[in-house]
Amino acid sequence: MSQKGVQTHAWPLRLAHWTMAIAVLVMIGSGWRIYNAEPILPFRFPLFATLGGDVEAALARHGDPGVASAIAWHFAGMWLLGAAFGLFLLYGLLSGHFRRDYLPLTPRAFVRDFTDALCFRLEHRLGVYNAVQKAFYWGVLLALVVVILSGIAIWKPVQTYPLETLFGGFQGARTVHFLAMTAIVGFLAVHLALVALVPRTLVSMITGRSGPSPEPEGEAP
Ligand code: HEM
Repeated sequence: MSQKGVQTHAWPLRLAHWTMAIAVLVMIGSGWRIYNAEPILPFRFPLFATLGGDVEAALARHGDPGVASAIAWHFAGMWLLGAAFGLFLLYGLLSGHFRRDYLPLTPRAFVRDFTDALCFRLEHRLGVYNAVQKAFYWGVLLALVVVILSGIAIWKPVQTYPLETLFGGFQGARTVHFLAMTAIVGFLAVHLALVALVPRTLVSMITGRSGPSPEPEGEAP
């Protein structure tokens, strides 16, 4: 990924990343609308943050508050996410990107970089991920695996009975799905805030390339 302070992202990685980003946003918005129809916690998501068309029109047409169209969005996002995540994993594994750029990762390095980040001492070096970034990226990949598997268990509870049992039944799979979604939303909040702090990384994630920093930058996403 790095060439003498120049950050590069190959096109399959960028394609997978941006497709994954769109798919995840679609799945979160539509998922929140589906959740609102039968919440598992004592709150609902604000309607403006959900996806699934005009609620009033859906109520008038078939007496359902846009859940049917939210499910259609959720399934469309599901196929997109499956394809993009598959490409991301395939590229990361086959190109050696995960081995080269996400490893090594030790608890000691994580504690050191996390402490530096809390004290605003952590510099962002283009082309090199710090231990906090590496942990975050592994974490979100794991959350994506869990959200996909628990989603499959909810979608096809009979066909994937062992998977559903693993999650503690249908309600258990719903809870795990919700928790994994929450982890992804938490990742996104930090990810976007830190991309805003180091906008140069956005250039490389869009164009594939960003030159050396003129001066030390803040924390890394
Ligand atoms: C929606 C808006 C998003 C923006 C603007 C954004 C932006 C970025 C940028 C700029 C980087 C490069 C960081 C660097 O090189 O230092 C990056 C990397 C990354 N992002 Fe995002 N991201 C978004 C959504 C997501 C989502 C939804 C996920 C996953 C759920 C995600 C997962 C990742 C991962 C795993 C990397 C590391 C890529 C690599 O392997 O090199 N991002 N993102």
